[in-house]
Amino acid sequence: MNRAKNAPLSPKLIPNLGLKSRNTFGLEVSAERAFEITQPDQIPALMDEIARNQWAWRVLGGGSNVILPPVLSGATLLMNITGQEVTQEDVSDTYLLVGAGVNWHELVQWTLTHNLPGLENLALIPGTVGATPIQNIGAYGVEVAQYIESVTAFDTQSNTFATLSNKDCQFAYRDSHFKQNPNQYIVTEVLFKFPKAWQARVHYADLAKYFADQSNTDQDPSPQEIFDAVCQIRTQKLPDPKVIGNAGSFFQNPIVSAEQYNTLIEKFPNIVSYPDTAGKRKLAAGWLIDQCGFKGKRLAEAGVYEKQALVIVNHGEASASDILNLARQIQEAVQKQYGVTLDIEPNIL
Ligand code: EPU
Repeated sequence: MNRAKNAPLSPKLIPNLGLKSRNTFGLEVSAERAFEITQPDQIPALMDEIARNQWAWRVLGGGSNVILPPVLSGATLLMNITGQEVTQEDVSDTYLLVGAGVNWHELVQWTLTHNLPGLENLALIPGTVGATPIQNIGAYGVEVAQYIESVTAFDTQSNTFATLSNKDCQFAYRDSHFKQNPNQYIVTEVLFKFPKAWQARVHYADLAKYFADQSNTDQDPSPQEIFDAVCQIRTQKLPDPKVIGNAGSFFQNPIVSAEQYNTLIEKFPNIVSYPDTAGKRKLAAGWLIDQCGFKGKRLAEAGVYEKQALVIVNHGEASASDILNLARQIQEAVQKQYGVTLDIEPNIL
């Protein structure tokens, strides 16, 4: 990708940087040493310095999927590598290389205005491009893995850059090789592959209902119409982090065996679930939490969002421990009532 020619090789160091506006939970956090990464070449020397000083370190993208402690000691790498460029095009596909620091939703908008449809179902997901392969973001019947050709990352074990193919990334529901190996990789660029043959995907219940209510023709909606629909549905269901701090779904939807599902459905015939691979079932965590009576509940400064029980919100001055105390209560209640374990989705640093 074309990068600024004279960009400095050493990243800018910002001491004691407040990160309240750089984490969507809106937690009061101070980073002892923040380094602004604007190009991949800055990473090897910085990682050397970090190793020499034995600093703890972590990468922060959009801060939309993390729970941060009041002080982040050591080094915090602010991922600001930008830029997007079509690198290759053949009869069937277009390839787009994107910097890890690009804002995800802005990228989705950009692809639509550049006639590269495919990501419209993933509109309005907060965060940066570099974070998307880590937890394989997904919404409304689409996962980002379907569009990723490869991911380039600095491998802190071998101290070299590596390009991992889609297969190497081992994508699964909210999971990947990067998530399985925390603090090994620093994602710098993602290569997306857009098939030229585009198909509307509106089978997901909320979207299907939206278009059934709206449309009086049998024609498939356009990518832009799907984008607009997803934005509207998400805005209605999920709190805007600029207004009330949150990190989207706080728990993963738990996957249970067919056997456990059969026992559950007998006892709780209204339980909401979706088929999963190998006969397993994915349960709607939001439903389980809602049934345990948590919707709108508050504990200290943390609360369960009143319109969607899967989302924990910051009512103003919450700390990481307020949020985690509430999460623990929810996990215990769901375990007790349904015998199901809920895993926390955001990374706890
Ligand atoms: N439900 C309730 N009460 C609630 C919330 C949900 O009964 O308070 C029921 C709903 O009625 C519905 C079911 O639970 O029948 C599922 O709810 P919903 O569709 O709202 O959410 P989800 O399928 O569990 C997932 C993703 C979201 C993504 C949506 C749309 C996970 C953990 N979450 O939610 O992702 O936007 O599907 O595809 O997989 C995120 O990861 O941050 C995120 C928002």
